[in-house]
Amino acid sequence: MPKILLENVTKRWGDFTAVDNVTLEIPDRSFITLLGPSGCGKTTILRMIAGLEDPTSGRITIGDEVVFDSEKGINVSPSKRDIGFLFQNYALWPHMTVYKNIAFGLETLKWPKEDIDKRVDELLKLLKIEHFAKRYPSELSGGQQQRVAIARTLAPHPKTLFMDEPLSNLDAKLRLEMRTELKRLFNTTDSTFVYVTHDQLEAMTLSTKVCLLKTGVIEQYDDPLTLYSHPANTFVADFVGNPTMNFIDSKAKKGSNKKEIEIEFAKAIFKFSSKKTIDTIPEDVIVGIRPEFVNLNSGIEGEIYSSLPSGMSTTLIIEYRNILITSVVFGQVDFEIGTPIKLNFQPDNVVLFDMESGEKFAEGTLSIIEELPISEEELEEIKAHYELKGKEVVQEEETDDNAADEKVSFADKVKNIFKRKPKKEE
Ligand SMILES: Nc1ncnc2c1ncn2[C@@H]1O[C@H](COP(=O)(O)OP(=O)(O)OP(=O)(O)O)[C@@H](O)[C@H]1O
Ligand SMILES: [Mg+2]
Repeated sequence: MPKILLENVTKRWGDFTAVDNVTLEIPDRSFITLLGPSGCGKTTILRMIAGLEDPTSGRITIGDEVVFDSEKGINVSPSKRDIGFLFQNYALWPHMTVYKNIAFGLETLKWPKEDIDKRVDELLKLLKIEHFAKRYPSELSGGQQQRVAIARTLAPHPKTLFMDEPLSNLDAKLRLEMRTELKRLFNTTDSTFVYVTHDQLEAMTLSTKVCLLKTGVIEQYDDPLTLYSHPANTFVADFVGNPTMNFIDSKAKKGSNKKEIEIEFAKAIFKFSSKKTIDTIPEDVIVGIRPEFVNLNSGIEGEIYSSLPSGMSTTLIIEYRNILITSVVFGQVDFEIGTPIKLNFQPDNVVLFDMESGEKFAEGTLSIIEELPISEEELEEIKAHYELKGKEVVQEEETDDNAADEKVSFADKVKNIFKRKPKKEE
């Protein structure tokens, strides 16, 4: 089975660069997901590997064979690239039974009748659609049709299976079911899966590695948990995970040694202990903390801004000096709005980003040193700062028509939904 290698692949249409100098290795037998917001170049990359679109420049190798090389003028036709394709709008042949839909491609390939029967039976079982073999597509549910489409794509044993948003027109429950089946399917075939989605949860749960793209550029290519725990920049940190990571705008100063940084936000001073030595410290930084690493019951004191129990866990938004911090607590808990609550950050899980570039520059532990008094004026400034940021996020969202991009920072969203409650008179 082959690995796929893209080297410096660029695709331009006129002045517009859809894919920008992408170098990507897809290992054999891996489940790779191309993830990113609408228009970032996911489909274009798939189509270029499959040979349905010619790159403007670069080289693509499948196994030992160079299938495209702009300099050497190599361009192998799509039919010789041995790739199975499953598009979002899979069209089953309406006048053929399920059985025939799966068998048809093999007949075209002139497989012997008994081999076809054997293969179709195998797939019907694998995808748990054996009871529907004699039905027509119109007699199936969406999810069942989807499974027939997958069976049909898998039938000729493609070495590589490309799927472009194959679950996007299913309801939430079916998507979950199909996700499980796809993952099981991956484990029972020898194929390499290349999967396209803008749903971060789908990418995280299915893939061996996720390639996160933004406007034609790879932002990070790693296994899902690395992407989640060690995001390269704020874009990755924000795109992956729901509710989103907390981002707190802060000031940074050198600490007492090369691994220490003094962090300040909302007149509270923290010691940040980095896992590695740090040479240059930007003045303006963003502290990133995943909601599940915001621990309660000791530390700085805020109050409950909102409490959203969902049964298995509760999402809390805690207001600390007009900064809203999201925390996820497991189990069935609920709080009254306004309840005082203490919070701290779980050691080793705090990420520091350079505010200007958005790049991560340190990971480590954040612990409180002291809280300085804060004036009403300073509190107002903080409130105005975050409200402005919230508005910017919402505006960005409104200019984008894609559902995936609706995933804005949870805190930002809540900020814009709920009117802030009036401060109690002291
Ligand atoms: N034939 C074309 N001519 C000009 N521009 C194109 C063409 N095909 C795609 N593009 C542009 O290239 C960019 C990448 O498109 P692509 O279809 O790869 O995005 P995508 O990541 O698959 O998005 P989505 O999630 O919406 O499917 C988009 O901005 C798109 O408008
Ligand atoms: Mg697409």
